[in-house]
Amino acid sequence: MNRTRRILITEPIVPAVMEKLSARYDVTIGQRGYYNIKENLLNDLPEYDAVLCMLSNPLDGDVIKSAKRLQIIANNAVGYNNIDVDTAREAGILVANTPDVLTDATADGTFALLLAVARRIPEAERALRRGEFDGWNPTGFLGMELRGKTLGIIGMGRIGTGVARRARAFGMKIAYHNRSRADHATETELEAEYVDTVPALCRQSDIISLHCPLTAETKHLMNGKMLTNMKKTAILINAARGPVVDEAALAAALKSGIIAGAGLDVYEHEPEVHPDLPALENCVLLPHITSATDETREAMGHLAADAIIGVLEGKAAESIANLL
Ligand code: DGY
Repeated sequence: MNRTRRILITEPIVPAVMEKLSARYDVTIGQRGYYNIKENLLNDLPEYDAVLCMLSNPLDGDVIKSAKRLQIIANNAVGYNNIDVDTAREAGILVANTPDVLTDATADGTFALLLAVARRIPEAERALRRGEFDGWNPTGFLGMELRGKTLGIIGMGRIGTGVARRARAFGMKIAYHNRSRADHATETELEAEYVDTVPALCRQSDIISLHCPLTAETKHLMNGKMLTNMKKTAILINAARGPVVDEAALAAALKSGIIAGAGLDVYEHEPEVHPDLPALENCVLLPHITSATDETREAMGHLAADAIIGVLEGKAAESIANLL
């Protein structure tokens, strides 16, 4: 127990992880959403040795430079676009994320979203709840069959590969674009075709699923112009980061039939959703939940907490697997 070490967990997470850190250190748990506001981080973070933060907390250069005591930032997420990693490095602050433990949950969640759009599940369920089910209908709620269709994956990392594996089990063909080509074994296993530009991938795919990180290069990758490369019958799935898609352009494309459907788990300005999207039946909207299983959220929390414990107990950085 080292009560001189102060840890901020920016909002309540799974109890076992909060207890693990509280048993060792002086832990403060923030109120949900409070540290989504930069000012609050600027005011409070200088008092802490470590922070276990959420993907919604903006740990930008100003915040990091102000946090003079901080030794480690452990993000309770695999994506870390909320953290200015370069400034952290310059300041000698380590940064950790939560890779691997959420791959299956996120790939499952993405595939559930994909099926929900392709088979119009929420739309059909809403109709039933409105009392409109009048028996089996030979022409009702016809959707897209997956067998034989091409899934275009943008970002063939762990999660993209996991989604591709699931798609293969449904008889889909896999095409992908990535900064670097996947290894030969992965391409062979998935019979995956590498496509060297995003527009070309959009032109040949029946479903595009986004799994790339949010960077300056991928911000608004799926803008109005890019969406016109997709087939009119195609579906766009985004379970990566909201700003990879220009949400206003997507809403317009869904309304005008440039593409047939979309499934979103993430949004440009979370928790806001573009006001045109909820009214569209050809769009399935989830509240950023693709990794939300009991097992995964617990494993994510432990991975983040263990990085904090490792750093504060003086373990060699090389022995902490999830440091960036
Ligand atoms: C992540 O970890 O980056 C996800 O978006 C959270 O599930």
